[in-house]
Amino acid sequence: MLKMNLEKNLNKILIIDYGSQFTQLIARRIRELGVYSKIISHNKIKLSDIKNNKVGGLILSGGPLNVYQSSKIKFDKRILDLEIPILGICFGHQILSKNLGGKVKKSKYREFGLANLKKKNKSLLTRDFFNNNKCNVWMSHSDEVSKLPKGFSVIGSTKNSKFAMIENFKKKLFGIQFHPEVTHTKNGKKILKNFVFSICKLKRNWSSKFQKSKLIDQVKKQVKNSKVICALSGGVDSSVVAKLLKEAVGKNLVCIFVNTGLLRKNEEKQVINTFKKKFKINLIYVNAQKLFLSKLKNVSDPEKKRKIIGNLFIKIFEKKAKKIKKIKFLAQGTLYPDLIESKSVTGSQTSKIKSHHNVGGLPKKMKLQLVEPLKHLFKDEVRKLGIELKLGKEIVLRHPFPGPGLAIRMPGFITEKKIKILQEADYIYVEELKKHNLYNKIWQAYAALLPVKTVGVMGDNRTYEYICLLRAITSEDGMTADFYNFNKEFMQRVSNKIINNIRGINRVVYDVTSKPPSTIELE
Ligand code: XMP
Repeated sequence: MLKMNLEKNLNKILIIDYGSQFTQLIARRIRELGVYSKIISHNKIKLSDIKNNKVGGLILSGGPLNVYQSSKIKFDKRILDLEIPILGICFGHQILSKNLGGKVKKSKYREFGLANLKKKNKSLLTRDFFNNNKCNVWMSHSDEVSKLPKGFSVIGSTKNSKFAMIENFKKKLFGIQFHPEVTHTKNGKKILKNFVFSICKLKRNWSSKFQKSKLIDQVKKQVKNSKVICALSGGVDSSVVAKLLKEAVGKNLVCIFVNTGLLRKNEEKQVINTFKKKFKINLIYVNAQKLFLSKLKNVSDPEKKRKIIGNLFIKIFEKKAKKIKKIKFLAQGTLYPDLIESKSVTGSQTSKIKSHHNVGGLPKKMKLQLVEPLKHLFKDEVRKLGIELKLGKEIVLRHPFPGPGLAIRMPGFITEKKIKILQEADYIYVEELKKHNLYNKIWQAYAALLPVKTVGVMGDNRTYEYICLLRAITSEDGMTADFYNFNKEFMQRVSNKIINNIRGINRVVYDVTSKPPSTIELE
């Protein structure tokens, strides 16, 4: 077990957050490089946080502010004298330039989306970055640096941004107007890599193992000797949280698993076997299949379905939780993309885009404090953590499954018979994906049952049965998605197997829409 002062002893990149939607993405890219990074809001940072904290490099993030809103921005000029390399990104580039004597003004032409960056001068920061002296970069700004600070030279320019990439190499100060952390900037990771290893001279010191120890330490500090409840769905995120909590608080963890009757085939057995029998987690199992089915009877409106399921879930959860004494904390598998559009996790001002509704809903009346150990992580990092926690690939590599379950994969009325048909079809489809080594190439795949019957012919007889829709998508984070391109043989095999094995389906169709304009789920 690593010591409690693990973070303090690690050489790190410190990211000063000015409220960008991408700040966590910068941290994630640094972690991907195997180096520890920490985010501190510009409102909260003290000079001593940098001086006494083994900071090998500073990154100033982007943000929604304007550099002239000085009352809202904290910039301690003394950081410029610490002789620590600094990389300013977007707003960070502007605030750095302004504080070094440069000028920032409203751009004549705003730049949003891809721009072509042309190389102007050689730099250690751009090693292996340019291809034929140019590179596509992703921009999102309406202000620009209009006068270079003293001692700086230009590394790269775009049509509308002359000082898109600048440096004072002697002082190891760099500013870039574009975002190297987003995947749209081809080779963006090379810039971060050059900054971290060649300029800051940091060494690899971060892995899922460290991540695990750090999170366990954090949970222990937060929870101490109190009891924690965790709503376990059997999905990757809540499973990782449950296993992490088990290691952190042991017997003080109580998990509640509600069988809504809208789960995938065998899911109930799998969850109970894994968590109760294998991991010896204190698990309360609630079989609420009948209740859910009766409340959903004759409901076809997607939003009504979601509300009924969410409310029922909270009621059951509250009822069970109230019976457990001395509960102070509620653990949730919230991930960073769940929060990314609702608020900044570091407390900086971020533009609010939409409010997030978390899985299962929060039982507000219970006044429980939240434990959200995964809230800074992305799905693939959570999966790596799950492997580190020895959760087993079967759970860790599982495709995401929505809280409302099969209810939103069955447009129209929900009946027990339809649920059974859908569970079987989904099972066959997913098993075939696994058998043909396709499962892990796909981000999410499932079968849905359409509320339409069509005519078919089987063995000279007429059939009149449901349509099964298959969906398979590739995606980075579920925010956008593309349909997966199966070959004809695979589709034929799955279609035949579903129709031959399941009474009730006589036609199989494949969804070829991306997101947007469609969503991943049907409802
Ligand atoms: P959509 O359909 O919005 O789905 O493109 C994006 C991702 O979110 C999952 N999803 C949910 N997950 N509760 C959840 O826990 C929900 O209510 C919910 N709705 C959609 C969906 O499966 C996909 O991975």
